[in-house]
Amino acid sequence: MPLQTSNNQAVSYPHEYWSSRLGFVLAATGSAVGLGNIWKFPYIAGENGGGAFVLLYLLCVAVIGIPVMMAETLIGRRGGQSPIHSYALLARQEGRSRGWQAAGWSAVVASLLILSFYSVIGGWAIAYVLYAARGIFDGVQADGVGKLFTDLLARPGELLTWHTVFMLLTILVVARGVRGGLERAVTLLMPLLFVLLLLLVAYAALSTEQFLPAAAFLFQPDVSKLSAAAVLAAMGQAFFSLSLGAGIIIAYGSYLPKDVSIARTATAICIADTAVALLAGLAIFPEVFASGLEASAGPGLIFQTLPIAFGRMPGGTLFGTLFFVLLVVAAWTSSISLLEPAVEWMLEHRGIGRQTSAWMVGALVWAVGIVSVLSFNLWSDVLLFGRSVFESLDYLASNIMLPLNGLLSAIFAGWIMAKVATEEELAMGTGIGYSQWRLAVRYIAPAGVATVLLSSSGAIALLFR
Ligand code: TRP
Repeated sequence: MPLQTSNNQAVSYPHEYWSSRLGFVLAATGSAVGLGNIWKFPYIAGENGGGAFVLLYLLCVAVIGIPVMMAETLIGRRGGQSPIHSYALLARQEGRSRGWQAAGWSAVVASLLILSFYSVIGGWAIAYVLYAARGIFDGVQADGVGKLFTDLLARPGELLTWHTVFMLLTILVVARGVRGGLERAVTLLMPLLFVLLLLLVAYAALSTEQFLPAAAFLFQPDVSKLSAAAVLAAMGQAFFSLSLGAGIIIAYGSYLPKDVSIARTATAICIADTAVALLAGLAIFPEVFASGLEASAGPGLIFQTLPIAFGRMPGGTLFGTLFFVLLVVAAWTSSISLLEPAVEWMLEHRGIGRQTSAWMVGALVWAVGIVSVLSFNLWSDVLLFGRSVFESLDYLASNIMLPLNGLLSAIFAGWIMAKVATEEELAMGTGIGYSQWRLAVRYIAPAGVATVLLSSSGAIALLFR
């Protein structure tokens, strides 16, 4: 339901709430679980050598991810508004500078940048629904799926079409309002995706006999593969996958009823999200090894391996179609979360109705997305510091902006907000104790993020030269 109608623009607050704790958990889980888990995690893990990366990833989720998610949730609930306004309001309450709203701005910019390329990849997933449904995967081999994928990327018109369709889907839900759209999509379909992934893991394990090598690749850390770049990739991936540092959890937290335990919900969401990523890895790497594809094949990894499995299994057309449909849905419940913070801000700030805001911001993001579409074909030769335009956007937004914004939200909750305020917000908390959380957001998370960013930028190496 829209918050306001176009002829009644002043009444934005107090605004709607999730129907229950479960509503928030579902929506935040829907945001967290998406292409980041199923498409990105396996290929980034593959590019960064497997086990060592996965270990670092798990460490980042536990030590930085959970406390930062708690921080962002409580900033949102306490501020009760979009990230930009929540920061501004809470800073003012503590007699601090309104300049803190810049942290909200940076978050909103990151969310829109990410959405611009996220939608293009979501478009790939839509294209694959149709491939699967038409039985194209039937009996296909590694070179066949490889060609299918590279051919798709070589056609900008087609990528643009699917990017447009995906963006339209996103805008339509956000225009309808948070509760009406979000909660329902997640309740049924996310558990279904989880079950399907479990089946895929079992099938990959049984039919390729590559389960043990795959598990060893993912869980046996090879210390020689550790590098500053791998640490940064792991941290960026943790923020990306948990939807942190882009204002999403702040925006969703602003719809969270007061009587809900933030510690418990944040922990549950992080565990669920990590479980899906690991399952996706276990479903994909047996196929990667069986088909002789390189683990470091890049963004095409799932699109070049899973179809082989679907092409081999009985009922593969049905399973394949169902899988890619669910992947689109998972991406969809994430993309709506990426659009929401900016739309929420327009609602509050400009009094522009939800419908109009969603279409305006959506159109802007769609246009930016064209850059990513072209970076896979016409502009594939354009490299910035050795990265394609798409990779550069992803690197800047995911590995730099998200951790920086997360750092700001940790500092804000740990140092700017009054202790009584955060204590009150977390009072319902069970699970992680308040003092551990405070230690994490005041010292551990900021130090961790700062160290990783500095060391990967070479600043620390310079210091110790
Ligand atoms: N976490 C989502 C995924 O894994 C993507 C996403 C949604 C996201 N909201 C975000 C990423 C905010 C970074 C920041 O697919």
